[in-house]
Amino acid sequence: MTEEKIYLYPVWVRLWHLMNAILCLILIITGISMQFSNPKFPMIRFDMAVSVHNIVGIILCVNYILFFLGNITTRNGKYYKLILPGLFSRLMTKYYKLILPGLFSRLMTQFRYYTRGLFKGETAPYPLNSERKFNPLQQVTYVGSMYLLFPIIMITGWALMYPEVIPARFLWTSGLHLTDLFHITAAFLVSLFMFIHIYFCTIGKTPLSNFMSMIDGYHESH
Ligand code: HEM
Repeated sequence: MTEEKIYLYPVWVRLWHLMNAILCLILIITGISMQFSNPKFPMIRFDMAVSVHNIVGIILCVNYILFFLGNITTRNGKYYKLILPGLFSRLMTKYYKLILPGLFSRLMTQFRYYTRGLFKGETAPYPLNSERKFNPLQQVTYVGSMYLLFPIIMITGWALMYPEVIPARFLWTSGLHLTDLFHITAAFLVSLFMFIHIYFCTIGKTPLSNFMSMIDGYHESH
């Protein structure tokens, strides 16, 4: 098999990602500290954890706006489109917006590779190239975290910073409680994503090559 290096991670993606990873780690640590705070044994002093969490949360929002703008103004955004190009897909998208043709079977093929094929030395079913930067599982988890979980965390985070905007009661419960529930559930899922993401990043040409990609921008194929 030929050894190949493709430039997949432009500078702005790498800078955004580095900031994002650092900010998320600080938010997770201060968030956990606030949630399990005990005045006798505070991991981080409560008022300090709140201030750091709020400031870092605001920086994360600014960083997210850069990611969002980057993805709508450069070709990086096309890797986040869950629908395959082609007339059929375009028609399906136009008339049945929620149908993502072939996505489920692509996910299953990738899942089968990660759970079996990889350990038998099979070749990856969706090798990365300049047209396809992510395999189907990466694509769905990146889209899910960046376009679903992050907006939920950011909107509920701002609401929790200005709780007077939250309705006192919503449906069957307190609005504040519900907002908090959404915030911590989405944050828990992002934390989970981060652990799994780091593990999957070790599946590359060598265990460290994907991490190197985020430093020099080049992806190394097997
Ligand atoms: C919650 C925090 C994180 C989020 C939301 C996140 C999200 C992402 C996204 C969306 C990409 C694709 C970027 C693009 O090319 O458009 C990516 C790539 C990558 N991330 Fe993260 N990341 C996080 C934390 C981390 C951490 C802590 C590490 C390593 C210590 C890491 C390592 C990598 C690597 C090596 C890649 C490139 C290889 C690949 O896409 O599999 N990430 N990450």
